[in-house]
Amino acid sequence: MSDCKTYYLTTPIYYVNDVPHIGHAYTTIIADTIARYSRLKGIDTFFLTGTDEHGQKIEEAARKRGKTPKEYADEISAKFKALWDEFEISYDKFIRTTDPEHIKGVQKAFLEMYKKGDIYKDYYEGHYCVSCESFVAPSQLVNDELCPDCGKPTRIIKEESYFFKLSKYQDQILKWLKEEKPILPESRANEVIRFVEEGLKDLSITRTSFEWGIKLPKEINDPKHVIYVWLDALFNYLTALGYGSEDESMIKKYWPAKLHIVGKDILKFHAVYWPAFLMSIGYELPKKIAAHGWWTRDGEKMSKSKGNVINPKEVADAYGIENFRYFMLREVPFGADGDFSEKALIDRINNDLGNDLGNLLNRIIGMAYKYFDGKVSSKDIEKYYSNELNEAREIIKNIEEKYLWKMQTHKFLEELWKILSIGNKAIDTYKPWELMKNNEEDKAMALIGLIANLLAMVAVYLHAVMPKTTSKISDALGFEINTKSFKAINEGKLLDDFVIKKIPPLFPKIEKPLMKKEEVKKEPENIITIDEFFKVELKVGEVVEAEEVKKSKKLLRLQVDLGEEKPRQIIAGIKEYYKPEELVGTQVCVVSNLKPAKLMGMMSEGMLLAAKDESGLSLIRPEKKKKTGTPIK
Ligand code: ME8
Ligand code: MG
Repeated sequence: MSDCKTYYLTTPIYYVNDVPHIGHAYTTIIADTIARYSRLKGIDTFFLTGTDEHGQKIEEAARKRGKTPKEYADEISAKFKALWDEFEISYDKFIRTTDPEHIKGVQKAFLEMYKKGDIYKDYYEGHYCVSCESFVAPSQLVNDELCPDCGKPTRIIKEESYFFKLSKYQDQILKWLKEEKPILPESRANEVIRFVEEGLKDLSITRTSFEWGIKLPKEINDPKHVIYVWLDALFNYLTALGYGSEDESMIKKYWPAKLHIVGKDILKFHAVYWPAFLMSIGYELPKKIAAHGWWTRDGEKMSKSKGNVINPKEVADAYGIENFRYFMLREVPFGADGDFSEKALIDRINNDLGNDLGNLLNRIIGMAYKYFDGKVSSKDIEKYYSNELNEAREIIKNIEEKYLWKMQTHKFLEELWKILSIGNKAIDTYKPWELMKNNEEDKAMALIGLIANLLAMVAVYLHAVMPKTTSKISDALGFEINTKSFKAINEGKLLDDFVIKKIPPLFPKIEKPLMKKEEVKKEPENIITIDEFFKVELKVGEVVEAEEVKKSKKLLRLQVDLGEEKPRQIIAGIKEYYKPEELVGTQVCVVSNLKPAKLMGMMSEGMLLAAKDESGLSLIRPEKKKKTGTPIK
């Protein structure tokens, strides 16, 4: 990895059905750290993030809030972008799957696969999980019904669909997984390999039962289909570089992606479906796919319906963005699940950051001033402290290949902290105040120089995790963090002499929890606002005609006067409870702005309000007679 010229990395694009929480922040912070590290090394880096905006889940979430899918997507996508901007996430592009360039690229890919003979038309009949937007094979169902990934009930769908010949790529994918070992951590690879070995079925890649998606390319001319949201979403990694446009220069420069970072929930899509699509259009496969674990709260997976999500902004406002970044990367081994607790965060800030790092810096600033007026030389370090120095150099030598590029962020940080403890130990062992007393000024100067160099190593390597904090450290020591200083330290060189500046403590001790303790609010999912309620138009109507629908056990066909030019036809499922003649001349309550729908071949232009319990069904009527068409509020 360290010798590549360009580095293209991505986060998943987040669904806009939910506001950002610390799970999303975690993925994005890891990606940002890798991107910053890669840039600091001088590698030409491109970092992509964005939002995933199509599909049934978004369409339904928007409808529930009385918005169009696009209005809704605009709103939530902007929230993601604003949060990343506030967190100073250094993305190079924020893609939205509603971008016209993306849509064009997805249609191009679909057409390519179609022309190649990898797509055919058939029927899909089976289970679908709207929450995961995934098709679930019968053998994978839990209790014959539930989604194995999220535990929610699946729906049975039966519809015409285009299929992608995933089965055709089974051997090639298996070979790639086994030979190239693209999955990180490697322990996760087995489950994916097993999934492929069990046999890949062709994948349904279009839907017809909703509308919020990308249409098929016009060359295929089948307007009732929209493209499956996962096919749409995965191609963002290529359309962001201009796939589907005239200009392929970015693709030439950056493809294949060096790294896709994902949560473990979506590894299969990235390590099986995505490579198959790429093989079909003849593109190289990504180099690494890194899957991290779940953040939980008190041992439970975070989710909006449980009301236990943590807002990353609240954490950052209370404890600082960079402390929060450090905590997330240090607290959990990459790949494992992690539990968020405020106490653990405070411990990390007070111990790792305050005691180990902050105090070491304060100590040498203090001593440098007390003994040497802030001017410290590196000239005798090798002479007196080569053991300490070499121990630290050894750590630096391995840290990148062994930990950083393998996403072992917690180990990466643990290693840097070993360098700090070399420094803290050296002060306790050699006691500079005694050296000064014994007139061993050279040795004391070299000791402070050693510590300054150790701190410089840590600051440079920690820069990608805590950019501002480490810039304050380098400022205090009198050097700049940039590709040049990175290179010098990477090669084990000592920095030249230091001119040290006094700065206020970087990590004031935290005495008590700082986040507002809000009662965990459990807002029921079905709450709507008054504006949303008023979107439903209810009116008083009068039944002017009524007749049975012959072939139906349930339906009556009514003509209802709503005070409009002519009565509306409403097909109502009340045949078992009312005779047509009892209805004519009576008043009813009608939902009057419902989208017309066909029932048994007849148009129905509204809906009657009714209540039903064990004893039967009763229509809801105004208590006193009202003019037809009177709005109900
Ligand atoms: O899956 N802990 O989007 P999504 C850790 N649109 N990470 C978490 C998390 C948690 N509790 N919750 C979410 C999608 N994440 C698709 C992706 S990519 C072509 C399409 C993170 O909004 C984690 O990275 O459901 C997970 O993979 C991602 O958010 C899923 O976000
Ligand atoms: Mg999800």
